[in-house]
Amino acid sequence: MLKVGLIGCGFMGAMHVNCYKNIEGVEITALADVRNEKAVALAEGTNAKLYGDGMELIANADVDIIDICLPTFLHAKYALAAMEKVKYLFLEKPVTLTTAEADELLKKSKECGCNVQIGQVIRFWDEYVVLRDMLAKGELGKVVNANFRRLSPRPDWGWEDWSTTFERSGGAGQDLHIHDIDFALSIFGEPKKLYSVQNLIGEKCSYVNTLMQYDDFVVGVEGTWDLPASHPFEATFRVVCEKGVVENAGGKFMLYTDKGAEEIKLEKKKIGSTNAGGNISDLGGYYNELLYFTAKAAAGEKIEDATIEDGVASLKFLLDKELSFGA
Ligand SMILES: NC(=O)c1ccc[n+]([C@@H]2O[C@H](COP(=O)([O-])OP(=O)(O)OC[C@H]3O[C@@H](n4cnc5c(N)ncnc54)[C@H](O)[C@@H]3O)[C@@H](O)[C@H]2O)c1
Repeated sequence: MLKVGLIGCGFMGAMHVNCYKNIEGVEITALADVRNEKAVALAEGTNAKLYGDGMELIANADVDIIDICLPTFLHAKYALAAMEKVKYLFLEKPVTLTTAEADELLKKSKECGCNVQIGQVIRFWDEYVVLRDMLAKGELGKVVNANFRRLSPRPDWGWEDWSTTFERSGGAGQDLHIHDIDFALSIFGEPKKLYSVQNLIGEKCSYVNTLMQYDDFVVGVEGTWDLPASHPFEATFRVVCEKGVVENAGGKFMLYTDKGAEEIKLEKKKIGSTNAGGNISDLGGYYNELLYFTAKAAAGEKIEDATIEDGVASLKFLLDKELSFGA
């Protein structure tokens, strides 16, 4: 059994615990949250030992892997300590708040020989995985243009308003837009040219729109969280290729060609253990990324996707190139 210790039992911690409970060969042995009631709620159905501050878990818990779901501004401090304890660390995105911290983590991971996976979950989301495979096979010809959008109401559920405090989260750029940027970079690489704008009225960096020019195609990436709670969350993409268009929008995943429109069917995943609270597909890419991470840890293998190098590169692209564009 792989022993998991998870720090930060809020929104994302709850999602991860639900995933671990559905992965065979994995046992949650430690949970930490400064709000005890959060840890108590997630401990249901486990024999996890409970801690307050994450440092107490890192110092004392019997674990093989650590999963950090703390607010972004706390990532660096806790990840640096966790890397000294375990050989496998899962750290939520964005890797850190600043690029200096990101460099420090990268250096430490190499010194400690710690395998780190960053929660760039879109790389593991079914529709995006299918898209990546279709493009890799080249069946639709060359990409002509692509568009990725992520629209959300303000994430106002966070502990002590950390996510809506720019100095603690980096705003919508670092918190939300980075998902699509990381994915675009993972399949297309760095663009030749870039044009990026963000709002200057209202909450700092609550809207970012970026155009990426490649040799012979263009990618647009839009992200915002300045919508009212009544607006549904939307994560969509449309990739236009020479021989067809792949679109994921309005709850439909479609392929459009000259021959007609066809829905791209996704395989419904089976639940791995008896602890499931619902269909595993409802856990989306979160389940897939943690299944990958725990399988790598169980086998003692290197993490090869959503690596710390990937997370650092995406953060640097966002902070040093996109958000500083024209500034
Ligand atoms: N991959 C995704 O799609 C996705 C979605 C949402 C959030 N996230 C990321 O997950 C992380 C957490 O976000 P969230 O929405 O779950 O926030 P949250 O505020 O809901 O949860 C954070 C938890 O950490 C606890 N905490 C604070 N300081 C602590 C400490 N020193 N020790 C132990 N516990 C402590 C808080 O009490 C809270 O329960 C962030 O990095 C965020 O960017 C990722």
